[in-house]
Amino acid sequence: MWRTSVITIFPDMFPGPLGSSLAGKALAAGAWALDVVDIRKFATDRHRTVDDTPAGGGPGMVMKPDVLGRAIDAVAKDGRPRLLLSPRGAPLTQGRVEALAAGPGAVLVCGRFEGVDERVIAARELEEISIGDYVLSGGEIAAMALLDACVRLLPGVMGAAASSAEETFADGLLEYPHYTRPQLWEGRAIPDVLTSGDHGKIAGWRRAEAERLTKERRPDLWAAFLRRFRGASKTGSKPG
Ligand SMILES: C[S@@+](CC[C@H](N)C(=O)[O-])C[C@H]1O[C@@H](n2cnc3c(N)ncnc32)[C@H](O)[C@@H]1O
Repeated sequence: MWRTSVITIFPDMFPGPLGSSLAGKALAAGAWALDVVDIRKFATDRHRTVDDTPAGGGPGMVMKPDVLGRAIDAVAKDGRPRLLLSPRGAPLTQGRVEALAAGPGAVLVCGRFEGVDERVIAARELEEISIGDYVLSGGEIAAMALLDACVRLLPGVMGAAASSAEETFADGLLEYPHYTRPQLWEGRAIPDVLTSGDHGKIAGWRRAEAERLTKERRPDLWAAFLRRFRGASKTGSKPG
């Protein structure tokens, strides 16, 4: 079973939204397991202090390495990657999500305040992961985003397994546009090709749209796609 341990000062935030919808059903069905570690339980003083002022001065507070270290040590070292959610971490990608989902699970450390004492990151070999170039007030929502992305890929969680093979990022392209009934809505029709019944033409149209959107919206992904395409010795279709 895919197992995650979340280390946080806000244990009540979990499972939160992960208790609903697909992830919640999968959790209830035992497709994945979640345990939440309350960092405050590892504080030793009367006030359950988890943070202190930054060495060298400056604003905010820093999570104490002794307390956080004990909280991390309470989770079995069983080969699961230990990740610290952090805006200065490596950007989370669909490729990394797939690798995590294919593994045994993850231990997620949620930062708060100005962040975590650097020594605990080094001593517990935490890998820093960012969910985007913006700053959240804590790692919990970032952990939920990472978990949601992983859990939907676990076997049996998504209704139609095929849908993940075609979606955005699956082959380095953004996904093609979707339509459903009614055929005509506010004067806008579904493109004829999609109702033609010609599966070859539909696949061709979708591929061309995926390439067009990627080129327009994400030149970075398009450049990477072209590099991969040119590097591949054999391939079926040519990018437009
Ligand atoms: C207010 S932030 C700290 C920001 C830090 N002072 C900095 O400038 O990098 C508090 C915590 O939120 C989490 N966090 C904030 N933004 C994040 C992001 N983009 N991805 C992942 N975690 C994030 C981290 O756990 C971080 O320790």
